[in-house]
Amino acid sequence: MKKFGGQNRRTFMKAAGMTALMAGAGTGSAHAMGMGMGQAKNRSKGYDFDEIYSRVGVNSVKWDSAIRRYGKDKITVPMGIADLDFRQHPAVVKALQKRATYDNYGYETIPDSYWQSIIDWNKERYGIELKKEWLRNSSALKPGMVSSMRGLNPVKGKVILSTPTYSGFRGAINKAGMRVEMNPLKKVNGRWTFDLEDLEKRLDYETKCLVLCNPNNPTGECWTADEMRALGDLCISKGVTVLSDEIHCDFVTKGNKFVPYSSLGEKYAQTSITYRSPSKTFGHANLKVAYFYTENEDLMNATMIGGGHETGVNAFGLAAAEAAFTEGAEWVDDVNEYLDENFDYLVEYINTPGNMPGIEYTKPEGTYLAWLDCNGLKERVATPEKVKALHDKWMAAGNHRRVTPEMAIGEWMVENSGVQLNAGHSYGVGSDGFMRMNIAVPRSSLKTALDNMNAALKKEFG
Ligand SMILES: Cc1ncc(COP(=O)(O)O)c(C=O)c1O
Repeated sequence: MKKFGGQNRRTFMKAAGMTALMAGAGTGSAHAMGMGMGQAKNRSKGYDFDEIYSRVGVNSVKWDSAIRRYGKDKITVPMGIADLDFRQHPAVVKALQKRATYDNYGYETIPDSYWQSIIDWNKERYGIELKKEWLRNSSALKPGMVSSMRGLNPVKGKVILSTPTYSGFRGAINKAGMRVEMNPLKKVNGRWTFDLEDLEKRLDYETKCLVLCNPNNPTGECWTADEMRALGDLCISKGVTVLSDEIHCDFVTKGNKFVPYSSLGEKYAQTSITYRSPSKTFGHANLKVAYFYTENEDLMNATMIGGGHETGVNAFGLAAAEAAFTEGAEWVDDVNEYLDENFDYLVEYINTPGNMPGIEYTKPEGTYLAWLDCNGLKERVATPEKVKALHDKWMAAGNHRRVTPEMAIGEWMVENSGVQLNAGHSYGVGSDGFMRMNIAVPRSSLKTALDNMNAALKKEFG
C-alpha cells in the first residue's frame, strides 16, 4: 500500500510526472488530458491547493479521529467528514490574528459591517437582495434549523427528508423532538430527482416542515428552479415550510448553477427559511458561525420565540466570516476550479477501463462529495457472511452497533487501501451500497487514495 506522508513536494511531483508520462500513453486518463498535479499554482492569486498541509495531531475529526479509531498505520488518506484539507484563506487568518491581539473578549455587539458582508456576498454571488432584518446568526447551521423545527411543529410531528441526504439532519430532527419521514429521491435518466407522488402521500396533518438540501449532500444535485418550484408548490398547498439548507451552495461544478430557494418567487420566499454558513465554503467549521434568513416574520418568530433560538456567535467566528465574505470571492472561485479538476480526475480514473472494479461513478453538479456506487463490491467484501463476521468481531470487542454492508465495505477499504470513506447507510433510504468520498484534498492525496483503492480492488477481483 502506497503512503504519501513521507514524500516532500518535489519528490512527489517528480513521481507524479513519471506517472503522468506512463498514464499518458494511450489510456485517455486524467493525466493524459492535462489535469495532472501542480497546475493549481497558476490560479489568480497563486493559492496553492496542491500543498499537503498536515492536519494530524491538531484534533481534527477528519484525520485524528480516523487515526484514533483505526490506528496510525492503517490510515493513509481519510476522505470522510466534509471539510477542506486546504489552508485557510489568508485574509481570514489575518483577521483572526488581528482579533487575537486585542486582549479582551468580553460581550460585544455585532458590527453593521458583518451584516453588510453577508448582504453583499449574497447579492454578488447569488443575485439576491437580503435585508438585515431578515437575518439571524447561529453558532452553526443545525442549531438554527433545530430551533425552526421546534417552533414550527410544537406538536412533535414529522419532518420530511428527501433521501439520500446529509446524515446530520436525522439527529437534528430527533433533537427537535420530531420524527423523520423519508421521501426517497428517484433516479430519472441517471439523475436523482424528487419523487413528488410519494411526497404527496407523506404530507399529512402531522407534517409541518421539509428539509431541502441544495446542493444535495451526498448525491450532488444542484436542484433546478423547476424541480424546486414543483416541490415548493406541493409544500405550500399542504402548509409545509421548506427549510432550505444551502451550506454547500458555493461548490458548483462547471456548467452547473446553484439556485437559492428563496429566489424562486415571493410565495416560495414567504414559506421558507434558508440556512447558510461560511464554514463549509472556507473550511472553518470550528469557528462556529452561521446565519439564516426568512422574509416571513411569522417564520422568524416561530424560530426565535417558539424554538427559543440562541443567536450567540463568538468574536473569532464573526471576524473570520466578515473577512471571508469581504475578501474571499476569488479564493472560492479558485477552490471551485481545483475541485472541479479533482472531480474530473476522479471520474476519468474510475472510468478508465480495468480501473476500480466494483465502483461506478458520474460527476456531480455541486458539493465536494463523491457518492460512489459500490454495489459491485457487496458480493465480494460485504456478503451476509462477511457482515456477520464483522458484527461478531465488534460484539466481542464490546461495540454493539448494528453492522451494515456499507460499514463492511468501509472496514474493508481501510484495511486494504488505507482510505477511509463514509458508509452510505447513514444518508437514509436509497443509499444501499453507496459510499461517500470527500475530494476536497490536494490532488496528490486524491491520487494516492485512488491508486491504493485501485490496487486493493484489482487484487480482490483477481
Ligand atoms: C448539508 C449539511 N448541512 C449541515 C451540515 C452541518 O453544519 P453545521 O456543523 O454548521 O451544523 C453539514 C456538514 O457536513 C452538511 O453537509
